[in-house]
Amino acid sequence: MAFAFPVPGSGRRVESEVVSDENIPFNRPYMTGKELDYIAQAHSGNMLAGDGPFTRRCHRWIEEYSGSRKALLTHSCTAALEMAALLLDIQPGDEVIMPSFTFVSTANAFVLRGGVPVFVDIREDTLNLDERLIEDAITPRTRAIVPVHYAGVPCEMDAIMEIARRRGLKVVEDAAQGVMSSYQNQSLGSIGDLGAFSFHETKNVISGEGGALLVNDGAYSLRAEIIREKGTDRSRFFRGEVDKYTWQEVGSSFLPGELIAAFLWAQLEEARSITARRMEIWNRYHQLLAPLEEQGVLRRPIIPHGCRHNAHMYYVLLTEETDRQAVLAEMKTRGVQCVFHYVPLHSSPGGRRYGRAHGAMEMTGRLSGRLIRLPLWIGLTAGQQERIAQSLSAAIGGHSGRRSPGTISPAAGQSG
Ligand SMILES: Cc1ncc(COP(=O)(O)O)c(C=O)c1O
Repeated sequence: MAFAFPVPGSGRRVESEVVSDENIPFNRPYMTGKELDYIAQAHSGNMLAGDGPFTRRCHRWIEEYSGSRKALLTHSCTAALEMAALLLDIQPGDEVIMPSFTFVSTANAFVLRGGVPVFVDIREDTLNLDERLIEDAITPRTRAIVPVHYAGVPCEMDAIMEIARRRGLKVVEDAAQGVMSSYQNQSLGSIGDLGAFSFHETKNVISGEGGALLVNDGAYSLRAEIIREKGTDRSRFFRGEVDKYTWQEVGSSFLPGELIAAFLWAQLEEARSITARRMEIWNRYHQLLAPLEEQGVLRRPIIPHGCRHNAHMYYVLLTEETDRQAVLAEMKTRGVQCVFHYVPLHSSPGGRRYGRAHGAMEMTGRLSGRLIRLPLWIGLTAGQQERIAQSLSAAIGGHSGRRSPGTISPAAGQSG
């Protein structure tokens, strides 16, 4: 069975059929064109180690755009999260509340210090940590909450910050996917005590591998520099604040070299236009797939009021009766590379060994197995998006029951 759906603005009704054998990849990294110039500048200036002029520019840009007190480039978001665990002085047995529907680094960073991830279920609308379940998961060992802004769509940060303040807990935002998103006009990453960005090739703004720690509580500023510089006060030495640098505390080498920072600077300069161009693609998917949502064969993303997302990802939730693997396989045979996402951590060997689930994790189980991510990269054309939507319609039609894809109606949140 294929579902017929109108192509917006065309007046045509399209039956889902393969019209091209051109392969559409899931991701294609976008280059602004300035990356090699800036790398050449770093090269000719003989500035290759970390914390040179390009790194400083990136720091300033992130601080200005986000309002964060201090930004520090790292090798990755994983490294930034590991720095956060060191800064919070997580000790063996300390508990850290986080979603199970997340990337392994969210948990691993704390497990490296002996911390215990306590997995809490997610909201049905955004797939983000369900703030209503956090309080019940707090024990005398709880030290921190780690909200993950899935798909660059903000968590309910007012409620999370209120719980954390009242219960004496720290908040580390895993904003790996959240660069240029905001919650109530506050940039993601700048709201918790600490925040972590990713500039991995698959993100919106990239440097291959890369990340940043955002230090929003000034009490952590100096220690953050020390931890990032092998546990030494070398940053203060370079600023002329001390006459030699020495080992101060436990740390590691978390700073990237200038070539990475030079690449990243070319991307940050264009971050606003990158986001705007991705948003056009996101919005086009949202429009194209509305008829399939109306037919009850999938659910589109929901963006709550007060949240501005960054078009990091376009995903759909299939119905429980739809065979996701079969849909993915059929998309592949139709030349469209789609992917699923996280295998919930609480159900993985590492999650069972190092963490524990609080509650039944019903939403996590139900939603994670139904999610498909569609190609989203700058350069994807309207025609390709139409073809993807048609292929999805046909693939779902071949492999689904046609029950309602969820109990939430789009009216529960503002979309787009
Ligand atoms: C939610 C989340 N946290 C952390 C990371 C790790 O980011 P990185 O690859 O920059 O270490 C990712 C990577 O995709 C992620 O999705």
